[in-house]
Amino acid sequence: MEPVRWGVLGTAKIAVEKVIPGFRRTDTAEVVAIASRDAGRAQACAARLGIPKAYGGYEALLADDAVEAVYIPLPNDQHVPWAIRAADAGKHVLCEKPLALTAAEAETLVAARDRTGRLIQEAFMVRHHPQWLRVRELIREGRIGTLLAMTCTFSYHNADPANIRNSAEQGGGALYDIGCYPVMLARWLFGAEPERVAALVERDPDLGIDVLTSALMAFPGGGQASFTVSTRMVPYQRVHCLGSRGRIEVLIPFNAPPDRPCRILVDDGSRHADASAVAEDMDAVDQYALQAADFARLLRGGLAPDYPLEDAVANLRVIEALFKAGSK
Ligand SMILES: NC(=O)c1ccc[n+]([C@@H]2O[C@H](COP(=O)([O-])OP(=O)(O)OC[C@H]3O[C@@H](n4cnc5c(N)ncnc54)[C@H](OP(=O)(O)O)[C@@H]3O)[C@@H](O)[C@H]2O)c1
Repeated sequence: MEPVRWGVLGTAKIAVEKVIPGFRRTDTAEVVAIASRDAGRAQACAARLGIPKAYGGYEALLADDAVEAVYIPLPNDQHVPWAIRAADAGKHVLCEKPLALTAAEAETLVAARDRTGRLIQEAFMVRHHPQWLRVRELIREGRIGTLLAMTCTFSYHNADPANIRNSAEQGGGALYDIGCYPVMLARWLFGAEPERVAALVERDPDLGIDVLTSALMAFPGGGQASFTVSTRMVPYQRVHCLGSRGRIEVLIPFNAPPDRPCRILVDDGSRHADASAVAEDMDAVDQYALQAADFARLLRGGLAPDYPLEDAVANLRVIEALFKAGSK
């Protein structure tokens, strides 16, 4: 397969540390250019990562005919504006999560996709990790009976006022940054949209962003999902899927390391206190490389995505409903 020729907008931490190394680990991607608001930063980054071209400005990269697809790891409020510009410049787009700040904003990108015919995807890397494909398979084949509850905890500690996660204007806060994952996973595993939601949203009094958010989602048929996310808590992540006859525990649900196996526990509950839990180890994989490879497969094969942008619109509808439910 001919590699997709990528350009990267911005010198974001996620791009430099995860996504560009992921592009490197697959022969379906080639990074041809990087842009920064600052030309010197673009050049330094390109030199460090061995990227052939560096641009001082995002528009200049979009004008480069050698760039076929653009990866957008900008602050959340800039995702849609730059994705639309990229599509209008004829580029395909992989855009970081959360795709937008509202469902209405995401819909403007759906319209741009339809107008330009470009492939535009939200970068939820976990959807490409074999551990999540395995969890979904186990649930679909009834290994835990009927899925009744999904619970998730996801947290880290970051109080740096200069970080985009702490800027309300830029779409910071726990629900946008990490709550988007359990919302997506619950919708994915239940295969439906929640009918009702409830939430508690605790905000930083000075910065205005949510720092501790707990949520409940009720799905058709009686299943429920819940999560607690925080940007001011001890770093931790875990997902439990509980069914009528068993449970699955995902030990590293989101930041799966590329260099060591990931473990899930499958427990039929026949013995007390985890004694019947059976470990399944997944081979070490780079979920960012898999994300890039899946993008290339869709693009080169002209295939319809499993997760079209409409999924991002639906995710944002739930996020908006949670903010509304949790507002004081
Ligand atoms: N999928 C994942 O695993 C994952 C993990 C972490 C983050 N993310 C997502 O990736 C995006 C970036 O996160 P990050 O932590 O990597 O952010 P970051 O390091 O702060 O990078 C953001 C980049 O955006 C550019 N930018 C443009 N306008 C900006 C502004 N007004 N303020 C700050 N930066 C600006 C900057 O690049 P230049 O100055 O070089 O132009 C900056 O390097 C977010 O949407 C986040 O949700 C995804």
